Amino acid sequence: MTGPKLNVLLIGGGGREHALACKLAQSPRLGRLHAAPGNPGIAQHAELVALDIADHADVVAFCRSAGIGLVVIGPEGPLVAGLTDALADAGIAAFGPSRAAAALEGSKGFTKALCDEAGIPTARYARFHDAAAARTYVTAEGAPIVVKADGLAAGKGVVVAETVEEALAAVDACFSGEFGSAGAAVVVEEKMTGVEASLFALSDGATVIPFGTAQDYKRAFDGDTGPNTGGMGAISPAPALSADLAETAMATIVRPAIAAMRARGTPFRGVLYAGLMLTADGPKLVEFNVRFGDPECQVLMRRLESDLLDLLDAAAHGRLASAASPAWRDETAVTVVMAAKGYPGAIAKGSVIRGVERANALPGVTVFQAGTAGGNGALTATGGRVLAVTGTGTDTAAARRLAYEGVAAIAWPEGFYRRDIGL
Ligand code: AMP
Ligand code: GLY
Repeated sequence: MTGPKLNVLLIGGGGREHALACKLAQSPRLGRLHAAPGNPGIAQHAELVALDIADHADVVAFCRSAGIGLVVIGPEGPLVAGLTDALADAGIAAFGPSRAAAALEGSKGFTKALCDEAGIPTARYARFHDAAAARTYVTAEGAPIVVKADGLAAGKGVVVAETVEEALAAVDACFSGEFGSAGAAVVVEEKMTGVEASLFALSDGATVIPFGTAQDYKRAFDGDTGPNTGGMGAISPAPALSADLAETAMATIVRPAIAAMRARGTPFRGVLYAGLMLTADGPKLVEFNVRFGDPECQVLMRRLESDLLDLLDAAAHGRLASAASPAWRDETAVTVVMAAKGYPGAIAKGSVIRGVERANALPGVTVFQAGTAGGNGALTATGGRVLAVTGTGTDTAAARRLAYEGVAAIAWPEGFYRRDIGL
């Protein structure tokens, strides 16, 4: 192995970060792994630290005292808030884009303008700062039509409207402050049709390398019904994204975006998540995210063979060109999210979860924890999405069977899950 040992601080406490922690822990280059806030699953691999992530000076002070060589930032919130910039100012390396580059997720209008500039295929759109102009446009365009709050709205700011009335209501909701400052501007888009898939790429600002594909299940209930959620399951590789289509999307969407960000003087370093619509005219961009997906990360990490720490460190330091290409297990991974009843709405906290160790003991099954507390036989649910039960196998059917065997080993009457992940 090359290079000295690295002490790492992992920011976040969801299933995505548990998957990252598991994988980082396998690296021979890892020194000490710390996580903030972490969760009981992450605590099996990392020392948890109580830090106020929004207090950048606090994070910098901890990194100095603990000799942190790399900060890995899981969620979009701290990226959009400029944590990477504060760390850079203090001379501390971070995996994750600067605040300026995080606008690729933080502002839909920013991304649409970048797509125009770089010729990236995406839905036709217009952006508005007041309700009257947006209403006029929606009425003229007709339905179906898509209305999006410009800023970060925790996955809730998008309405795919089948009628003009629905679209107008969505416009009004944004401008009435339902999404806070995220709704100060609105993007109205043409509705695209096709199959959705996600493509991940690592970049150090200049070099871009593909980093796997996945498909997630956004709706709460079986058969893609019910409200939109953060994701109720995922499969990797994405069945709909052939190697050819993935390469087309890299060439027409991901590389031009990275090049345009570099040309603007705001290079993107981190993982770029391209949400794609596979249309009759080829892959088009639905949205960018500036971080790993959750639960897409869980399936990616179960398939990744390479040293994750090497790759993230190379991306953070502009050394991806000389890093070895990521190697993947020739297997499929399926993850089934177990969520608290009521999610994505109001949920009750504190119910007891049994059987996580039993599920984890099954060959080919890994349980990633998200909204959990406690541990040592008294694990309780504290969030909406609570567990991501992941199976890996030689094909989708095998991976799916294992994931659901894991789910069956878990006793948690207050939870629910979809039964059609990977079907
Ligand atoms: P976003 O937060 O932009 O990913 O949007 C959430 C979901 O809304 C996407 O995963 C799509 O299913 C859907 N969506 C967003 N934009 C469009 C569009 N222009 N056409 C069709 N569906 C869309
Ligand atoms: N699973 C969708 C996301 O992470 O944005």
